[in-house]
Amino acid sequence: MSTCLACHQTATPVLNFGKMPIANNLLLPEQFNQEYFYDMAIAFCEHCYALQLLNLVEPDVMYHDNYTFFSGLSKNMTLHFQDFAKFVQQQYLAKEAKPFVVEVGSNDGILLQNFANQGMHHLGVDPSANVAAIAEQKGVKTLVDFFHEDVADKIIAEHGKADAILGANAICHIDQIGSVAAGVNKLLKPQGVFVFEAPYLGEIIKKTSYDQIYDEHVFFFSLHAVKNLFSQHDLELIDAYAQNVHGGSMRYVLAHKGAYPITDNVINKLEAEKQQGLTQLATFQRFAQNVAHSKQELVKLLTELKAAGKRVVGYAATAKSSTILNYSGIGPDLLSCIYDITPTKQGKFSPGMHIPVKPFDEFHADYPDYALLFAWNHANEIMAKETAFAEQGGKWIVHIPEVQILDLVTQ
Ligand code: TYD
Repeated sequence: MSTCLACHQTATPVLNFGKMPIANNLLLPEQFNQEYFYDMAIAFCEHCYALQLLNLVEPDVMYHDNYTFFSGLSKNMTLHFQDFAKFVQQQYLAKEAKPFVVEVGSNDGILLQNFANQGMHHLGVDPSANVAAIAEQKGVKTLVDFFHEDVADKIIAEHGKADAILGANAICHIDQIGSVAAGVNKLLKPQGVFVFEAPYLGEIIKKTSYDQIYDEHVFFFSLHAVKNLFSQHDLELIDAYAQNVHGGSMRYVLAHKGAYPITDNVINKLEAEKQQGLTQLATFQRFAQNVAHSKQELVKLLTELKAAGKRVVGYAATAKSSTILNYSGIGPDLLSCIYDITPTKQGKFSPGMHIPVKPFDEFHADYPDYALLFAWNHANEIMAKETAFAEQGGKWIVHIPEVQILDLVTQ
């Protein structure tokens, strides 16, 4: 048993992954013997329905000046964030003469640049100085810090209150969530909105996408969990929209209690969550069994391909891949290397299992027999640009929703 990070009652452990490294911490051989590991596990709170990480890693071990994740590297995500900005502007900022928009965890400015480009008053908050510097180069003003209640006070003193506070795959990273909620409550104008997106628990359960579980993802949110968590700080869930990014996400819209009506979207989705079992401990115990099965299937397939003399590589050294590789014990013997477009990942080795990470030139020059698609959430974008791989006989392996070799011809 452990204490729930959201409501401070008792949460029940449901799945232990064993020793895990920091998912975005790609490293050089001279760093192998000082690598940081922790015991990764998740727990479900039957009181407020928050599925959450246990044994948290200190934030500054994950977010620092050498942070390797840059949101702006995916074209689809760039388009997605244009839509996100348009949604907020049209729905909630149209009547404001000079709106002020704040983003929690603004990374390289991929979302806020859409407001900054129009000369709109904005401020990003992000703890990693290196990604914040890229945002600044794009004209996105960024405060290098973790967002919490004191930072909200500081922003109010310097800029006034916000019309919109945004978050994209960042709110679910924060264990001190109570301080974030209190900060949002203070910083938001009476008619302001707090709009954030996060990978959706309903999709994780449906797809057995256990690779969403790693050190940075503290919460795996559902509408139930979001509603219960923020209502402790007088914020109300007023709307919700499913999003087709990060393997299935949800966009949550919150506001001060009573400021806006609660939409049918919220009411219907809450009911659907009950039907799916997202308020039941048994659902997560079943999920744990499905995860163990997925691991067995993947190891079996890679072992068979190796025995058949096939060359198998990984496609994209995602944070998600760290969970799959370490939990399944898949190393360079089964997966010769991983290709990735991020310059700061290339030439390094994957966390924990130490598989070499390489730039794509070699992939294109000498296609392997199989590529395991770790960035399965970007499948459309990737398949569209890698048609030659399949045309030359290369095959994709995916593990979501089940481990399989894709037959692109019959798809
Ligand atoms: P994402 O699914 O956002 O990863 P994470 O699990 O880390 O949140 O994918 C980003 C990673 O995938 C990043 O390392 C870059 C890599 N990538 C490629 O190598 N090629 C591509 O075409 C795309 C879209 C991503």
